[in-house]
Amino acid sequence: MCGIVGYIGNLDSKEILLKGLEKLEYRGYDSAGIAVMNDNGVQVFKEKGRIADLRNIVDEDVMANTGIGHTRWATHGVPSTVNSHPHQSNSGRFTLVHNGVIENYDILKREYLQGVVLKSDTDTEIIVQLIELFVNEGLNTEEAFRKTLTLLKGSYAIALLDAENDETIFVAKNKSPLLVGLGETFNVVASDAMAMLQVTDQYVELMDKEIVIVTKDDVKIQTLNGEAISRDPYTAELDASDIEKGTYPHYMLKEIDEQPLVMRKIIQKYQNDNGELTIDQEIVRAMNDADRIYIIAAGTSYHAGLVGKQFIEKIAKIPVEVHISSEFGYNMPLLSEKPLFIFISQSGETADSRAVLVNVKEMGHKALTITNVPGSTLSREADYTLLLHAGPEIAVASTKAYTAQIAVLSILAEVTARSRGLEIDFNLVQELGIVANAMEVLCDAKEEFEDIARKFLSTTRNAFFIGRGIDFYVGLEGALKLKEISYIQAEGFAGGELKHGTIALIEDGTPIIALATQESVNLGIRGNVKEVVARGANPCIISMKGLETEEDSFIIPEVNEILTPLISVIPLQLISYFAALHRECDVDKPRNLAKSVTVE
Ligand code: G6P
Repeated sequence: MCGIVGYIGNLDSKEILLKGLEKLEYRGYDSAGIAVMNDNGVQVFKEKGRIADLRNIVDEDVMANTGIGHTRWATHGVPSTVNSHPHQSNSGRFTLVHNGVIENYDILKREYLQGVVLKSDTDTEIIVQLIELFVNEGLNTEEAFRKTLTLLKGSYAIALLDAENDETIFVAKNKSPLLVGLGETFNVVASDAMAMLQVTDQYVELMDKEIVIVTKDDVKIQTLNGEAISRDPYTAELDASDIEKGTYPHYMLKEIDEQPLVMRKIIQKYQNDNGELTIDQEIVRAMNDADRIYIIAAGTSYHAGLVGKQFIEKIAKIPVEVHISSEFGYNMPLLSEKPLFIFISQSGETADSRAVLVNVKEMGHKALTITNVPGSTLSREADYTLLLHAGPEIAVASTKAYTAQIAVLSILAEVTARSRGLEIDFNLVQELGIVANAMEVLCDAKEEFEDIARKFLSTTRNAFFIGRGIDFYVGLEGALKLKEISYIQAEGFAGGELKHGTIALIEDGTPIIALATQESVNLGIRGNVKEVVARGANPCIISMKGLETEEDSFIIPEVNEILTPLISVIPLQLISYFAALHRECDVDKPRNLAKSVTVE
């Protein structure tokens, strides 16, 4: 949530900051701002809305070699120009951008800032006012910055400008992600390397409670106590084309279409020279040592976890529980004697999941993170990592990361099962190859899904997704996709559960999207469809080849039954996409959401 950038060097910083913020909009997009600094001082431009709105108010004539910027997802205070960052101290000397949440801001306000008039409703403004207060009391900027940081409780990635020193950006990080990017005649800071790939691919990772003094020729990393730290840069292995839309109208459509490719990449990445699937032996050992696995995740990743449970229990025969991370923190179940925790997170930054990770590590348990982002917080802090290799996912609604998570979980289950000498009656490499081909067929059928979206979803207020077994889990994901981007109130239900209450909502024409891909429950789910049709529902049945009937709206190609979530979700992704398009919603940046949720 919220993205920050900074630039200090020889070039004019405005365009670099604005382009950087555009790449960070996935982190929040309700308001944005930049502050640029030259000999004449600091100028701030900020605006409610998107980066495009900010661009309109930035004064083209101001030239400045140093600047910071921010794109916001509001936590404290409504999205407005006043509440957007950068925030300035009352004298205007200090200007700051912040990603994170200062939990004790109210206490600090009462304790230190009684006489100070605050302009915004944000927690962030406290930081910049405290720095000014401590400078007024006699500290220099660096000392005041340090002192302020030691008082803060919560998460922060901060970039600070001092109008009396136009050669430095002061930077600090705790819990929120932040990188320093290195150049020949400049240096940058960014929440994500993607933002500054335009100028450099060399980055230094920052750790929690580090402070960095960034000038155009130098980057000094220190602990909060002032001990110098040296850390080598790494090369960000991102291809600029991965983060562009190309000819696609939306990232979401591009990312849906990339799914066959991602499947093939995952097979290749997890295959050894003998063509067998393989993962780090330490992970296999940890799986085998566990008497129960706890999958922890949020949103779409939680839905992938539900499918993963089926794989691990059915193929590797280890019991699994799947928990929503934000709940697990308060409501921890009675743990087994030898638990292994698996964190599933596309971004690797989700604060709810991280809070659980910190907790279970303190309890001495082992943790594996399955993520799309190498070096992300959840990856660094867990004992083991499995990567999704899905390439950057930029649309807020997750698509290719979901199928990649499921594919990686299937590989984890298969490799573990083999290590336990369990019999597996299919060749997963081949089966995933068949899945990739089936995905292509579905991605080529866009017009049919557009028709379905038009027929079932163009005017409805609500929609229900039903399925049984593994189809139920995919239905949950389908409902999440639809509500996220089209704002149709959508819910997923176990087929048999609808009649225990929610059937009261069925009216003439209510769309019911039913999944029928599992032979064992085919009759059951079709019975549930009849129940709702008898009450006026408009059914859209998506079945698998071999189980189809004449009333079905779409028949997906046949794949191994246990892997059907990998392909049955694609019609749901595409139907949601077209429903959102017909309703003229902002597909890639739905209202109120953010892709990387770094606040609890
Ligand atoms: C947000 C996003 C969802 C995502 C969830 C978990 O809510 O909008 O698309 O599924 O966070 O994110 P993660 O990065 O942990 O998978």
